[in-house]
Amino acid sequence: MSLASKQVVDALRAAGEPTRLRILALLAREELAVLELCRVLDQSQPRVSRHLKLLAEAGLVERFPDGAWVFYRLVSMGQAAELISEVLSRLDASDAVLSRDSDRLTAVRAERATEAGEYFARNAARWDEIRSLYVSEADVEAKILDAAGPGPFRRLVDLGSGTGRMLTLLGPRSETALGLDLSQQMLNVARSHVADAGLARCELRHGDIFGTRLPDASADLVVIHQVLHYLSDPAAAVGEAARVVAPGGRLIIVDFAPHRLEFLREQHNHRRLGFTELEMTRWLADAGLATTAAQALPSADGQGLTVKIWTAERSAA
Ligand SMILES: C[S@@+](CC[C@H](N)C(=O)[O-])C[C@H]1O[C@@H](n2cnc3c(N)ncnc32)[C@H](O)[C@@H]1O
Repeated sequence: MSLASKQVVDALRAAGEPTRLRILALLAREELAVLELCRVLDQSQPRVSRHLKLLAEAGLVERFPDGAWVFYRLVSMGQAAELISEVLSRLDASDAVLSRDSDRLTAVRAERATEAGEYFARNAARWDEIRSLYVSEADVEAKILDAAGPGPFRRLVDLGSGTGRMLTLLGPRSETALGLDLSQQMLNVARSHVADAGLARCELRHGDIFGTRLPDASADLVVIHQVLHYLSDPAAAVGEAARVVAPGGRLIIVDFAPHRLEFLREQHNHRRLGFTELEMTRWLADAGLATTAAQALPSADGQGLTVKIWTAERSAA
């Protein structure tokens, strides 16, 4: 049997087991940490890890350690990805076990969203203080201004706008601006900051980065500043942001390089401890954008955090 055929047999063998099929169905919704899969499947960690190992060996899922957590996601391209999608499309949508898994995952997500919402609501008033704890804001902001370019921008969209810092930084170079955030408390603080800065054509709107409802290709500058590491599905957020970027427009993502500061999970609700170069450029490419720059700014205080600024562009039509 040829190597390619053997790979198909291995993949089918790995997928051909009820728990592993359930895992594939769950990972089709989003990347998940092992402990989250254990909760949804109601199975022990050694058992779930064994299944995941087999799926990874067969090339159906990717494993990526992130601090003390280990995440898994479905492979996104190639024969294995096609095979998974074919197998999953044939599952019975009304299957009781799969529906229960799906409901449990929805509950786990809702719990996460509530925790995050409470965290941001609690910290909205002192966010500007917390935000600058680990990095030199002035250095990062100077690089963001460089990455954005002089403008003027027709439409700036800031996703996860928080207290509005990116809007007050880039708003003066933009004809119109929109900040979108899930937290009403953050939006309230942002409204006063934007008013203080005299940005008349800047709107603040309640909304979810996973479904912004903004028109396709409607902004020439989109920014996601220190938001992705809180999210359940950062790849989907990048995809949604990219959808809004107009031909010739730019997406700037600011987040951390991979780090090991586990306390940020416990005390500050981070889900991911940074992002690798590879995953970010792949998400951007999958979303139709070319990464044109990726700058790294190590923290001056030796805390181990490096801020990354990724700039990506949609080619002009
Ligand atoms: C760390 S703050 C960053 C805010 C701002 N970009 C800054 O750098 O100051 C993260 C923000 O993302 C928002 N956020 C989290 N999940 C979101 C989602 N799904 N959709 C929109 N905003 C979200 C939070 O409410 C919070 O205001």
